[in-house]
Amino acid sequence: MTVVAIDGPAGTGKSSVSRGLARAMSARYLDTGAMYRIVTLAVLRAGIDLGDARAIADLDAAVTVGHDPDEDRAFLAGEDVSAEIRGDAVTKAVSAVSAVPAIRTRLVDMQRELASGGSDVVVEGRDIGTVVLPHADVKIFLTASAETRAKRRNDQNVAAGLPGDFEAVLADVRRRDHLDSTRAVSPLRAADDALVVDTSEMTEAEVIHHLLDLVQQRSGAVR
Ligand code: DC
Repeated sequence: MTVVAIDGPAGTGKSSVSRGLARAMSARYLDTGAMYRIVTLAVLRAGIDLGDARAIADLDAAVTVGHDPDEDRAFLAGEDVSAEIRGDAVTKAVSAVSAVPAIRTRLVDMQRELASGGSDVVVEGRDIGTVVLPHADVKIFLTASAETRAKRRNDQNVAAGLPGDFEAVLADVRRRDHLDSTRAVSPLRAADDALVVDTSEMTEAEVIHHLLDLVQQRSGAVR
């Protein structure tokens, strides 16, 4: 069984690349960001103040995610919330919710459980190589400049029919980088033994190809 941990900030192409790698390896795929997003949606629906860490910690959200790289499904108490967790409201609130230690502890336990299924798995997040799966066979940390990441996100918004606003997206990328890298619990950073890959000048296909090479070199277990 090969366990691949992929970490890095938003906008590095991490999700598409992780999914593509899982597909190429015929492996399961676990999107841990989706789990934080589901809890965040539950917090918003419950009308909890984002500053109220105690109330956030006390909320018992029933989180379920799929593990098929071709079917990106997320459920809150059995309801399919796959589209809603990608919306603006959740995206704005998720950093605050994911900074609550009790939430992290609960989701990290679930992530370890889900990753230990016996078959190959690609696990994507922010703290997979450092905290969730420190013994992963391959650890990859994706990076890209803030401008590149903002441009990618803005292009995605435009493609989805939303108005483009590069400066606003760039400001949000920087705000989230700051929150994610300075929070007390599990700040975003590359594990000491992670392979750092800068995707600024690479296409998605190139990144997937490169990662597949790295996995094959490291584990020798990929068909
Ligand atoms: O990858 P994403 O944008 O869907 O992640 C959503 C948020 O969840 C992001 O602000 C960081 C947080 N997150 C985290 O703290 N730890 C993880 N393992 C995955 C995501």
